[in-house]
Amino acid sequence: MIKLAPSLLSADFACIAEQIAAVEEAGAAYLHVDVMDGRFVPAITWGPKVVADLRRISRLPLDCHLMIEHPEQQVDAFREAGAAIITFHLEATPHAQGLLAHIRKGGAKAGIAICPQTPVAMLEDLIDDCDLVLVMSVNPGRGGQAFIPRSMEKLREARALIDRRRSQCELEVDGGAGEQNLHEIVAAGANVIVMGSAVFNGGDPGGKLRRLRALL
Ligand code: DX5
Ligand code: ZN
Repeated sequence: MIKLAPSLLSADFACIAEQIAAVEEAGAAYLHVDVMDGRFVPAITWGPKVVADLRRISRLPLDCHLMIEHPEQQVDAFREAGAAIITFHLEATPHAQGLLAHIRKGGAKAGIAICPQTPVAMLEDLIDDCDLVLVMSVNPGRGGQAFIPRSMEKLREARALIDRRRSQCELEVDGGAGEQNLHEIVAAGANVIVMGSAVFNGGDPGGKLRRLRALL
């Protein structure tokens, strides 16, 4: 089953409860929560307190994408806040295997993200420790950017790696996804599709998500 994960980065936090209710009602599978620290990426967003508050207003699993340095210092706080999936960047730590194992041991699903510069082959020795692989199809840091074409091939490579290793790992794509490339993304093997601006820009996130789901 293909899962759509609206990214709250493009949502309106002045009325976040209504926006979340709308996408939940429209069939969102996860809420994608982009955590940025002003160091790994220039922007700053939110931390565990906001995740804990979001936890109270939605039943959807919170898919936390940590774009932060030293993720090993923060994953426990996000797990305690109620994150269902905790994804950190391979580029942010030399100890990815240990951190994946630590996240799993804590009871959350463990995800690893790669930036556009990082080859899928770098995941070869981590795939058995992952519950989710996130292929970034833009440079992390902000919403509304164009999908980097080479990412389509990376999704096919990641799907091949997951299948070859008989892993149950989910394959998520993040950045520049929308109506225009939905079918190609699914054909490339992704099963979780993050969408920020395609869902939240211009109002009516519930209606937009429903239309995107209907395309699948
Ligand atoms: C970017 C974030 C994305 C972002 C995607 O660094 O990781 O989750 O919200 O936004 P769109 O879908 O607008 O490209
Ligand atoms: Zn993200």
